[in-house]
Amino acid sequence: MMYSKVIGTGSYLPEKVLTNHDLENMVDTSDSWIRSRTGIEQRHIAADNEMASDLALNACRKAMKAADVSADEINLIIVATTTPDMTFPSTACILQYKLGIKDCPAFDVQAVCSGFIYALATADMFIRAGRCRTALVVGTEIYSRILDWTDRSTCVLFGDGAGAMLITQSDQPGILSNHLHADGSYYNTLSLSGNICSGKIKGNPYVSMEGNTVFKFAVKVMEEIVHETVAENNLQISDIDWLIPHQANIRIIQSTAKKLGIPMEKVVTTIDKHGNTSAASIPLALDLALRDGRIRPGQHVLLEGVGGGFTWGAVLIRW
Ligand code: UT7
Repeated sequence: MMYSKVIGTGSYLPEKVLTNHDLENMVDTSDSWIRSRTGIEQRHIAADNEMASDLALNACRKAMKAADVSADEINLIIVATTTPDMTFPSTACILQYKLGIKDCPAFDVQAVCSGFIYALATADMFIRAGRCRTALVVGTEIYSRILDWTDRSTCVLFGDGAGAMLITQSDQPGILSNHLHADGSYYNTLSLSGNICSGKIKGNPYVSMEGNTVFKFAVKVMEEIVHETVAENNLQISDIDWLIPHQANIRIIQSTAKKLGIPMEKVVTTIDKHGNTSAASIPLALDLALRDGRIRPGQHVLLEGVGGGFTWGAVLIRW
């Protein structure tokens, strides 16, 4: 049996920090509202000359260093992003060039905040099918460029950042299972509806969201996907050592953990310092928990995400 094994992770946050107090000077909001309704204290904002591929490049270099893998050993690149450098080519191709990798498949996936889960599941299936030995999987986002900075209902929620993971073929798990879902009937609930026509954006160029609908849906599926994942692996919820959920709102995370009976001590959270970094939030949180020594060999780590589409999914890893 062939598995994918994680051999290194890395992450990157842009230097500039935007606090809730900074936002108080920009829109009609307050630090206490943002903290109590979302758990966010601050977020990072990319510099004008930084693109999603630049954030990704920094995260990838750290993952390659951690895994002791050189560019010529990577034979698949998948980038999850909602904020690509260009309409085309893919950010994965630009990243491939910046990393100096000569020839391997490289493509983007678009599943918004579930993007990293979709990308990792895809890379896992490439590896288990024997079509690739070592894959680089990245979530990278610059949401600050698609926010209406006069709309307090969205601009306080998001941040910029990138996280990367290297996985390679192994006869030992590794990734135990992946689970992907989508329900396109909600496509209008969380969207950026503008589209590019003759070089110009037609329609609304900013994120719009029915916050309450997203909240309720997220709590429901974030619970369901954990049950689905443990059942398929003949495990109990108590066998999960670390839950690493997409970081959209601390109340979504706490409600999910409570419904599942998972103590918050077993849940990795970064929402306070990063805000919602969409496809980057899960690999950013994973990298943090690995580097600070929380995740140890033999433990079960469950990654789960939900986002626009709606899309949702999970990947279970035995570390
Ligand atoms: O990654 C996946 C994508 N996103 C999500 O998962 C987000 C899911 N949704 C949420 O996290 C929450 O629904 C929000 C944080 C977006 C909103 O929290 P809420 O508790 O659902 O608040 P609400 O939308 O019901 O708004 C409550 C009040 C409203 O005022 P009124 O009508 O009660 O007078 C809003 O106008 O809070 C007001 N409000 C704000 N006040 C201060 C909305 N945004 C702000 C703000 N500062 N930034």
